[in-house]
Amino acid sequence: MKKNIVSVLIAALFTVFGLFVLSLSPERSSGDAFDARVQKLLGKMTLEEKVGQMTQVTIDLILKDDKTNEIDEQKLRYAVVEKNVGSILNVKGHAYTLDTWHTIQRSIQELAISETPNKIPVLYGIDAIHGNNYVKSSTLFPHNIGMAATRDLSLAKRVTEATAAETRATGIRWNFDPVLGLGRQPLWSRFEETFGEDVYLVSTLGEATIKSYQGESMDQPLNVAACMKHFIGYSLPLSGKDRTPAHIPDNVLREYLLPPFEHAVEADVASVMINSGEINGVPVHASSYYLTTLLREELGFKGVAVSDWEDVIRLHTRHRVAASPKEAVRLAVEAGLDMSMVPLDFSFYDLLLDLVREGTIPEKRIDESVARILKLKFKLGLFSDPFPEEEAIQRFGLPEYKDVALEAAEKSMTLLKNENNVLPIPSSSKILLAGPSANNVSSLFGSWSYTWQGRDEAHYPGSILTIKEALENKVGTDNVLCRSVRNYTDERNFAIGQLQSDAKNADYIVLCLGEDAYAESPGVIDDLTLDTDQIALAEGAVATGKPVILVLLQGRPRVISSIEGGMQGILLAYRPASKGAEAIVNTLLGENNPSGILPFSYPQHTGDVVLYDHKYTERIREDIPNTYGDGGYRPQWDFGHGLSYTTFEFGDLTIDKATFTEDESVTLTIGVTNTGSQGGDVAVELYARDLYASITPNFKRLKRYERVSLKGGESRKLTFTLNATDLSFINVAGERITEPGVFEFMVGTKTVSAELLGKGS
Ligand code: BGC
Repeated sequence: MKKNIVSVLIAALFTVFGLFVLSLSPERSSGDAFDARVQKLLGKMTLEEKVGQMTQVTIDLILKDDKTNEIDEQKLRYAVVEKNVGSILNVKGHAYTLDTWHTIQRSIQELAISETPNKIPVLYGIDAIHGNNYVKSSTLFPHNIGMAATRDLSLAKRVTEATAAETRATGIRWNFDPVLGLGRQPLWSRFEETFGEDVYLVSTLGEATIKSYQGESMDQPLNVAACMKHFIGYSLPLSGKDRTPAHIPDNVLREYLLPPFEHAVEADVASVMINSGEINGVPVHASSYYLTTLLREELGFKGVAVSDWEDVIRLHTRHRVAASPKEAVRLAVEAGLDMSMVPLDFSFYDLLLDLVREGTIPEKRIDESVARILKLKFKLGLFSDPFPEEEAIQRFGLPEYKDVALEAAEKSMTLLKNENNVLPIPSSSKILLAGPSANNVSSLFGSWSYTWQGRDEAHYPGSILTIKEALENKVGTDNVLCRSVRNYTDERNFAIGQLQSDAKNADYIVLCLGEDAYAESPGVIDDLTLDTDQIALAEGAVATGKPVILVLLQGRPRVISSIEGGMQGILLAYRPASKGAEAIVNTLLGENNPSGILPFSYPQHTGDVVLYDHKYTERIREDIPNTYGDGGYRPQWDFGHGLSYTTFEFGDLTIDKATFTEDESVTLTIGVTNTGSQGGDVAVELYARDLYASITPNFKRLKRYERVSLKGGESRKLTFTLNATDLSFINVAGERITEPGVFEFMVGTKTVSAELLGKGS
C-alpha cells in the first residue's frame, strides 16, 4: 500500500515536470496555452495591423505580371507591410514546381518576419483537394466521390496524410479542404468534391479526413490545418446551378446538412469556409444566425471563419443585400466572419478600417477575429519557423503515394453491370477502345488538377497514363485498336462510322464516356443526360452487335437510361486521378476485383431524382386512382450498389435485445461469406428504419458500414453497436429527439427489428 502511494507520488511529480517542460516549448503548447501569447501580441498591435490580419489576397497581387510566377518585391511590400495583409492564397494559372513554391514562401515570410512591426508570419492557404493539385509532379488521388465509394476510412486517412505531407512540403500549412456538403443535387457541378448523398457517410469520411490532415498537433511538419467547407447549404442549390439560391427549412438543414459539420467541430477542425450562396433569401456570408448562432454558439466552433472567393464584395454585387461595398463589409463582419478572401484588391482592408475608425464596428469585435487568426498561426508553428521545413520537403514525392493512389483508385471502381459475366475481359482478346476519355488525361482527374479547371492536358505530369496506354502496356499494342486523341472534344473521338468499321476485327468494344474536367460554375449543365454525341456513339457501338463495355469517367451521375440496355458491362470510375488508367485496366482485365459501391442513388431520369433515404410518399404513388403502388423509387442503380467478380452471401442478421431503452445500446451481428472461389472485398452496410415517427420517417438510413476482405470461401462475423442517438431525428422545432417505437435494421436483404421503449415503460 505504502509502495503504491510512493509510486503514485513519483508519477505525479513526473507528470508535473512533463507539463512544465511542455509549457517551455512555445509551439507544443495546447490550444488554450496559446491564449495568453495571443492576447499579449494583440495588445501590441495597431488597428491597421489587426484589420490586415483579417484580409486575405490572392497571389496575383504580389506577382510581377500575369505570365510569371515571380514575386514583385514592391507589390509584396505593399501588401504585407503597408496593408498588413495576414493571409495570401492560391496559385496563378497552374501548378508550380516545389522550388518555385519555396522561393515564393521564403520571400513572403522573410519580409513578414523582418519588416512588419510585430513580426507576424503570413498564413498561406491553398486548395489541395484530392492531393496537392497545385504543385507539379504531386500525386493526385480519386476525388471524394470515388473515395466515398471505397467505404474505407483507413484508406481515406492514408490519402489525406499524403496530401498533407505534399502540401506542407511546399511551405503551405493551410488546406481549404474537405468539402462537407452533401451530394444530393446531382446537377451541381461540384458533386465530385462531395462524399456523396448520405449524412453518415459524409460525416465519418469528413471527420477521418480532418483528423489526419491536422494530426496530433498542427505544428508538426507533416500536418496542415483543415478547412471544412462550405458552411452551409452550398451543395443544395434548388436549380442545380452553382452558387444559386437554396431553400432549406431549418429542421431539414439540421437533419441532413449540419451533422458533418458537427462531427468536424468535434474533431477540432481549425477553420471553416463559408457558403457563397443564399439560404431562404439570406446570403450565408451576411447571416449572424448561420455564422454565429449556429456555428459558434451551438456547434462550439472556435477556429477561423474565412469567406469564399470575393464573397464579401458579392453581398453588394450579386446578392444585393448591401447597398455599397462598405455595407457589405459591415454585414459580413457583424455576422461573424473572421477573414475575407477579398481577394483581388485591398478594399476589405480599407473599408473595415473606416468602419472601425468611425465607430460602426467596435475594435473589440476585430480583436475576437484577430485572436482566432493569430492562434491558428501559433498552432501551426509559424511563429517559430514559417519557412518550408526540411523534414516536410523530404516527404514530398514518396513512391508509396503512388501505391496509395492505385489502391484508392482500384477500391473505388464500381461495377454497375456485368451481364453474362462479360467482365473480366480475357487478356488475349482484340479490344476496340473508343470514346473521348479513352486516350485523354483530364477526364481521369476532373477539377483541381494542376489547374483549377483540370482541363489543360499540357499541365499534367508526363508520367500519367491514359486508358489506351495502360491497356497497351498490359495486353500489347497488337490487341488494342484505339483512334481516340487527347483533346476531349475532337471529332475523331466521336466518329461513329470509323468505330463501326473498326469493330469488325474486335472481340469487345470498350467505350469510355462521361465528362471532361470542369470545376465550379464552368461545370454548370442544364441537362443531366449524357451529352447527345456520346449517346449517339454508344448507340453506334451497340449496333455493331459486339459486346460493349461502358467505362464512365464523370463527376456526377449522367443519365444513361437510353443506352444502358445495350451495354453488357458498365464500370463507373468517377475521377480516379494519377493511377486511374491503371486501376480501370486492372479492373477490366480482372487483376483488380471491383469493390466500390455507389455513394449516391444513380438516377434513371433527369426529372426523377429520388434519393435512397427518401420519404414513403416519394415511393408509394397513387397514379392510378385509388390504387397504391410502390414504384416511386426507380433509380438506375441504388445507393450502395456495386458488383464484384465473386459472390457474397449474408447469414441471418441478429440483435441482442428485442426491446431496449434510451440508455441502452443494441448490438447487431451478421455473418458474411465469400461464396466464390476468388478473393474479394465487400462493404457491408447496416441500415435502420423508424417505422412511425412524428416527422415523416425516411425509408431507410445508413447507420454503419465496414469494408472486409475475404478469400474465396472465407466467412467473417461483423458486429455493429447502435444507441438511441443513432436512431434520433430532428423535430420541427429543430431539436434532436428519439421517439419510442419499433425500428427495423437491414443488411442486404436480411432484416431484424427491436422496440425502443418509452421512458417509464
Ligand atoms: C471555391 C472554394 C475555394 C476558393 C479558393 C472558391 O471559388 O468555392 O472552394 O477554396 O475558391 O480557391
